[in-house]
Amino acid sequence: MRRSPTFFVLMFVLAAGLFGIGSAFALTPIEELGRFLYFDTNLSTPPGQSCASCHAPEAGFADPDFDLPVSAGALPGRFGNRNSPSSAYMAFSPDFYYDEEEEMYIGGQFWDGRAANLVEQAKGPFLNPLEMHNPNKNVVIVKIRQATYAHLFLDVFGENSLSNVSYAYDRMAEAIGAFEETDELNQFTSKYDYYLMGMAELTEQEMLGLQLYNDENAGNCAACHPSTAGPYSDHPLFTDYSYDNLGVPKNWENPFLYMPPAFNRAGKEFIDYGLGGVLDDPMEIGKFKVPTLRNIAVTPPYMHNGIFDDLTKVVDFYNTRDVGEWAPPEVEDNVNHDELGDLGLDDDEVDAIVAFMMTLTDGYDPVGRFHAGGSQAIVGSYELRQNYPNPFNPSTTIAFELAEASNVRLEVFNITGQKVSDLLNSSLNAGRHEIVFDGNALSSGVYLYRLTAGSFTAQKKMVLMK
Ligand code: HEC
Ligand code: HEC
Repeated sequence: MRRSPTFFVLMFVLAAGLFGIGSAFALTPIEELGRFLYFDTNLSTPPGQSCASCHAPEAGFADPDFDLPVSAGALPGRFGNRNSPSSAYMAFSPDFYYDEEEEMYIGGQFWDGRAANLVEQAKGPFLNPLEMHNPNKNVVIVKIRQATYAHLFLDVFGENSLSNVSYAYDRMAEAIGAFEETDELNQFTSKYDYYLMGMAELTEQEMLGLQLYNDENAGNCAACHPSTAGPYSDHPLFTDYSYDNLGVPKNWENPFLYMPPAFNRAGKEFIDYGLGGVLDDPMEIGKFKVPTLRNIAVTPPYMHNGIFDDLTKVVDFYNTRDVGEWAPPEVEDNVNHDELGDLGLDDDEVDAIVAFMMTLTDGYDPVGRFHAGGSQAIVGSYELRQNYPNPFNPSTTIAFELAEASNVRLEVFNITGQKVSDLLNSSLNAGRHEIVFDGNALSSGVYLYRLTAGSFTAQKKMVLMK
């Protein structure tokens, strides 16, 4: 029997979906190389940690471990001093510079701006003893020479590009930087993005949240986290890449405080001076780079030291820092008293701002929503939709479409692959179906749900956040 071209395309899509090969985004060779490097867990000593271990796609390219304020290193018992920020949308951060007009520092990478750009940043983690823990560049390059994608490195940078260690190391960072600039990290596919395009509607609460977020006399969040397009992109980035001291209290649960003197000479007295520490400038101490709020719902904990574990606490802090019961700032100098501290928001308003921030998670599915519950259902194809809401607490709706009547299984697994629920196991008619998943009995984290209908299988991730 002759197969039509569509059959092969379909088979490829199915295979790609099943085995997770390739990427949903078209990449150039250097970007593809950067992707291999970014996800290669063999590039740490001991092996096991990649960039993605602390910047995982399912956690908005931040650390998927929600329980620790900072990230664990490749060596057990080692911890960095700061919370892993998202590496997504950082490609838009300009190279670190002093803006004469605004009279402030802008851009760069890390909470304290100490790397000028993504390429410089990517050179750090491999050799950091609290992160990927390689003793030197040579060890990293030897691993790359032996990697399955070594030929791609040579294709991209030339036949001899892996011979000289420091040359190869710099090219490696270049490739990672190129990958971090791709659509895979910079998706602009949140509900809010579709709302701006007229393809999704915000709920009444989300709309109120957006208004309060923007209002100078209410949340005033947009003063530092702009919700409109700006100088660095045609899309809103939710950061102006400037630096500020919010007066965030010291986090006594930061395991770095208890690291041996070889890594933390000050011990429990350790104080993080942020930008001021890098520049050795008293005017800048206590200031940290304004983080993007894209994907913020899936990147807890929050702030440079991970002190807040949920978004309501963050907004409460902005709202009542100066009038409520909060521990004193870790660094008293340069605390911003003009734009936050006593916003006068009531509980419903705080909740609304949080609800708005929940619309900033990438991977929203406007098609599935628009066809929800009706005669509009696309019949004729199999499709597993992204759950909504996502993240969720405690329940969420999973929708799917069946091309024909089928025996359907819908199973839920935790991130280690253990099944936590047989949500559905029955025969259903063709068309669209929805089922509610209740995560009441489960703990916060990333879960996979898998649909099997006849020979069709698909799975997606969802995030339970309590
Ligand atoms: C052990 C966890 C860990 C690993 C592994 C790791 N990072 Fe990070 N990353 C962090 C932390 C923590 C910070 C913030 C550190 C700071 O500000 O001092 C950070 C910061 C960043 C930033 C800056 C984001 C911003 O808001 O300025 C980028 C980009 C980034 N990492 C990319 C990478 C890449 C690329 C790799 C692999 C080469 C990598 N990271 C490996 C934990 C990690
Ligand atoms: C004056 C500038 C400024 C204003 C106004 C502001 N922020 Fe921030 N925001 C920052 C800075 C700087 C940080 C990082 C501070 C730190 O870690 O010490 C931050 C951090 C955050 C974080 C944690 C991000 C993460 O990845 O950990 C959230 C959430 C947040 N802001 C939301 C808001 C909301 C909501 C408002 C309005 C109620 C707001 N911000 C107003 C500057 C600002």
